[in-house]
Formats: sequence, C-alpha cells, structure tokens
Amino acid sequence: MMEELKWVPSTVDVTRPSVARMYDYYLGGSHNFEADRAAAKQVEQIFPGVAQSAQANRSFLRRVVRHLMTQGVEQFLDLGSGIPTVGNVHEIAQHDNPNARVVYVDFEPVAVSHSNALLADNPNANAILADLRATSSVLAGARETLDFSRPVGVLVIAALHFVSDADSPYEAIAQYMADLPSGSYLAITHATWDTLSEAELAEAREVAKIYSNSDNKLTMRTHAEVTRFFDGMEMLEPGVVAVNDWRPDSFDETHVGIYGAVGRKP
Ligand SMILES: C[S@@+](CC[C@H](N)C(=O)[O-])C[C@H]1O[C@@H](n2cnc3c(N)ncnc32)[C@H](O)[C@@H]1O
Repeated sequence: MMEELKWVPSTVDVTRPSVARMYDYYLGGSHNFEADRAAAKQVEQIFPGVAQSAQANRSFLRRVVRHLMTQGVEQFLDLGSGIPTVGNVHEIAQHDNPNARVVYVDFEPVAVSHSNALLADNPNANAILADLRATSSVLAGARETLDFSRPVGVLVIAALHFVSDADSPYEAIAQYMADLPSGSYLAITHATWDTLSEAELAEAREVAKIYSNSDNKLTMRTHAEVTRFFDGMEMLEPGVVAVNDWRPDSFDETHVGIYGAVGRKP
C-alpha cells in the first residue's frame, strides 16, 4: 500500500472508490487501490461481463479515432479520458500522424497526473484536470493545444453516464460542438439498460448501488436519450448501436450494454 501511495496526488481519498480507478482495474491496469478493487469486484460478482464491456468500449474508441483520421481529423478532445492504459488516443492518432494533437480532460487527479507524466515529452498532447461540465474553462484550456479553426474530434467515451440530467449534459455537449468548426465530429459511448432482461435489470440495479458509493453516480440513458446528444449533427452509419456493433473489425458476440455512436457537425 505504501508503495502505491507514492504516486498519488495528496488530494485523493484512496478509501473511496473512483470510477476512473475501477475502470483501470477492469482493463488490467495497476493504478487502483483497495477500495476501487473491492467495489470493482463487487460489480464483477453481479455482472461478470463488466471487464469485457470495458474492453469493447476501449476497442470502439480505437476504431473511431482511426476512422476519424481517415476523414482528415488531426485533433482530438477526449473528455473523461481516464487513467492512461494501452491504446490511448494520442498513441493511436500519432502513430498515423506524429503531428496529431490531443487534449485529455478528466476530473480524477490520478488520471491526470499519470497522463501528464506520460505526455511529458509530447509537445502535441496534454492533460487538463477539469470537470467536463465546466465547458467554458475546458474549452479555454483546450484552445492552448488545439486549433479551433480546424475540425476536432470530440470523444466522450463512457463518461456521460456519470453526468446527471440536473447537470445539463445536453447543453454541455452542444456548447462544445458550437465552438468547433464544420467537419468536427462527436463520438459518445454511454451505458444503457435498454437491452437488459428483467433478471439482468435487477442485477444492474445492484451495480448502480455500488457506484452510488463512489464519487460518480450512474445515470443510464435510453437509445432516444443517447441519440439526443447528436441533435443537429449528421449521424455516421450505423447510428446509435451497441459499441461492438459499430463498424466492428472482428466478429464479437459479447452482449454489451453500452451504446456507441459518431456524428459529424455539418
Ligand atoms: C469509465 S471511465 C472511461 C475512461 C475512458 N474515456 C475510456 O473510455 O477508456 C470514465 C471517466 O470519466 C471521468 N469523469 C466522469 N465524470 C467526469 C466529469 N464530470 N468531468 C471529467 N471527467 C469525468 C472519470 O473520472 C473516469 O476517468
């Protein structure tokens, strides 16, 4: 435990689970603590597919970044970016184009301190410790790295289900997109209960209780509610679908209760 604590910013309460560090655990990372692992294991007991879902979500992110690169997008704003793990956005983008620019945003101090350590020698990418709901200050910070006269790919991957309706998530996303030029893209993944059976729904409610003890409570959204984030945008085929059904590069029959979609600002 003492060894772990060396890399932890002093503001972090390691006794309280964080979704960033639970997600790191699901992906096989090492930046998580006892409380995170205990909560993550509780979720796994109720919902054994959680790690597979996290991996499917991460694969969607990789496919989207690659696709947007083929559409000429060279800049990315990754909101709720999480703790760096294998296949981070700058690694995918800069592999194809070393000049690609990336701004990571997360409000979890461990995620941001690790991102900045990883990016110390990378002049085209940085990480901001900020709440994605604070749109004006996030946009101001992002402008220091990104050129807002050229298209940007906004990535909000597995983060919006931690923003309740009371915190105006639709208005926040609309404000991000309003500041960006035509030809910018929005990619979202979002947990849903739409596809669950009655029995699975009962399990899911137990999972939600575990998250309610973390710093981030869950707000599930329906297909229509996820689609609403793309109001005024051109949806890319195949629209709002389970993440593993969005332009898969291999056959994957995992049942994933996470929607994924990409839209283009006309
Ligand atoms: C499940 S993780 C997803 C990480 C990454 N986007 C991915 O999909 O691989 C969710 C992340 O969103 C972050 N997050 C949740 N609410 C946020 C907010 N209001 N502002 C910034 N980050 C937030 C959490 O700290 C966490 O790192």
